[in-house]
Amino acid sequence: QEAHAAEMERTFIAIKPDGVQRGLISEIVSRFERKGYKLVAIKLIVPSKEFAQKHYHDLKDRPFFNGLCDFLSSGPVLAMVWEGEGVIKYGRKLIGATDPQKSEPGTIRGDLAVVVGRNIIHGSDGLETAKDEIALWFEPKELVSYTSNVEKWVY
Ligand code: PPS
Repeated sequence: QEAHAAEMERTFIAIKPDGVQRGLISEIVSRFERKGYKLVAIKLIVPSKEFAQKHYHDLKDRPFFNGLCDFLSSGPVLAMVWEGEGVIKYGRKLIGATDPQKSEPGTIRGDLAVVVGRNIIHGSDGLETAKDEIALWFEPKELVSYTSNVEKWVY
């Protein structure tokens, strides 16, 4: 079980301040839970602007960078780590396209958001990003290792 858990893919998912303010935490968490993914870390924090700039460092040359960092640091963010087969790519599928106008119905953004600047959720876009973002937002001891009875039915 230990070896199995160590190999399992993990991704960083954050419900942004708009999602938290709108009371969408349980709705969003339930979609990852029902799919069969496993929650291994979760906390509610208000990131500083400097922290938001670190999180979005890849976007520092984009015109929306400053506004995006102001937005992320404007209130509580629910930071999470989810684990399971294909969770990075499939997590992005559950989330939907960046622009909610282009997200399919049935996806989180397709069902719950309207504009790109208020798209309620973030998910890592690849293996390296997932590792970096998990390390930025969480200390290793905050990642909880446990056996879920559900897993033997999911896999
Ligand atoms: S891009 O253009 O390909 O870099 O965009 P993408 O990788 O899809 O998005 C990167 C993050 O930037 C956010 N974004 C925006 N925020 C505000 N305004 C505009 N116009 C905008 N365009 C993209 C987008 O939501 C991504 O943030 P996260 O938190 O990952 O969703």
